[in-house]
Amino acid sequence: MTFAAQISLIFTRRLWRLSSVPTVSFHFTKTSMMGVTQEDFEKAKSKLSSLKKDPGNDVKLKIYALFKQATHGPCDTPKPGMLDFINKAKWDSWKSLGSITQESARQEYCDLIGSLVAAEGGSAAQAPAQSATNGRTYDSLLVSTQDDITTITLNRPAKKNAITTQMYEEIIEALQQAAQDSSVVTVFTGAGDFYCSGNDLSNFTKIPEGGLEQMAKAGGELLRKYVRAFIDFPKPLVAVVNGPAVGISVTVMGMFDLVYATESATFHTPFSQLGQSPEGCSSYTFPRIMGNSKANEMLLFNKKLTAFQACQLGLVTEVFPDSSFHTEVWSRLKNYAKLPPNSLALSKQLIRSMEKERLHAVNDAEVERLTERWTSEECFNAVMSFFQAKSKL
Ligand code: COA
Repeated sequence: MTFAAQISLIFTRRLWRLSSVPTVSFHFTKTSMMGVTQEDFEKAKSKLSSLKKDPGNDVKLKIYALFKQATHGPCDTPKPGMLDFINKAKWDSWKSLGSITQESARQEYCDLIGSLVAAEGGSAAQAPAQSATNGRTYDSLLVSTQDDITTITLNRPAKKNAITTQMYEEIIEALQQAAQDSSVVTVFTGAGDFYCSGNDLSNFTKIPEGGLEQMAKAGGELLRKYVRAFIDFPKPLVAVVNGPAVGISVTVMGMFDLVYATESATFHTPFSQLGQSPEGCSSYTFPRIMGNSKANEMLLFNKKLTAFQACQLGLVTEVFPDSSFHTEVWSRLKNYAKLPPNSLALSKQLIRSMEKERLHAVNDAEVERLTERWTSEECFNAVMSFFQAKSKL
């Protein structure tokens, strides 16, 4: 066994032990907080040790971080040294949760364990209504169905949920599954303190044998397919924007039916800064939603909007205080999901049908422009600057 494989194995074993047997003491009141009682939390904890499959290091780190956040609050311990790999990974994961409240962390902890249990075919920790998504588990997403709502959570909090090539494929698949499952509403959200930091810029550094042109062509086809999945999605789709959103996670928002944002969320599309051009049909939806001059500020001049500004411009439906974001949004969504499913889906499809053809044409044009941009010197230099700046830190 190679040294790297040995380290990985030790890491896996130690991490799993640490996340299944938390050593911190904690105190809860008996009252229900965000629907999660002490009993729910205890149940989720005990279900964790009954999992048969190892959910992988990323998920275990997430479980650890949520547990710490739920029982202790935001990370306030000193950063471990670079060579202390395990504690550094745990610290990073906990730190990445930022200032999310203990109540939200408890809720996310129970939801996460529930989805893992459900994916193994058992009954979920918190809600008997939860079901597995056909037993499919994803590397970079958490997908669960509960109370007639399928939730797709981007789950790379240590990288601010930046979307890798594999993640694009997984999201497309998760959307296809959600389109066919029995849920009424589909929700898109992010794990940790970010909603999503957009396209993972390291996607540009993996140049295949066919060179830059081939990379750009393959990237373009993937992007086309990704955006199509949003254009054609047949049920109400809701973005629950739990933190800052960048790039493609913002541009596709014009195709969501509702966008709920926490007050500290921001919306940023730094395309010209990166030598790129708009995608996600934003070159059509943004001017239509907010008018040309405001759309230009975002799409041409990289203006970052606060949640309240995005709401004023119509990109966001409603903004909620950080402290009550999860409670308010989820209680509202649970009520919406009780509406007649066919009426909701058919009405959404009717509204979309007015511009579906246009959206597909816009997607094609945007993909063509971006495929050219990705091979440009401007883009190459911008991506290199990002990673050079990181390496100097
Ligand atoms: N692609 C690749 N890696 C990304 C990323 C992205 N889009 N966004 C974040 N990351 C990585 C960082 O490199 C860092 O990795 P490291 O811990 O190995 O160094 C990690 O995620 C955490 O990000 P960091 O920059 O330390 O956090 P921050 O809170 O200071 O800043 C962002 C967060 C999102 C503002 C910053 O990372 C950023 O500007 N990312 C690029 C966003 C972007 O341009 N997206 C494409 C839009 S088209």
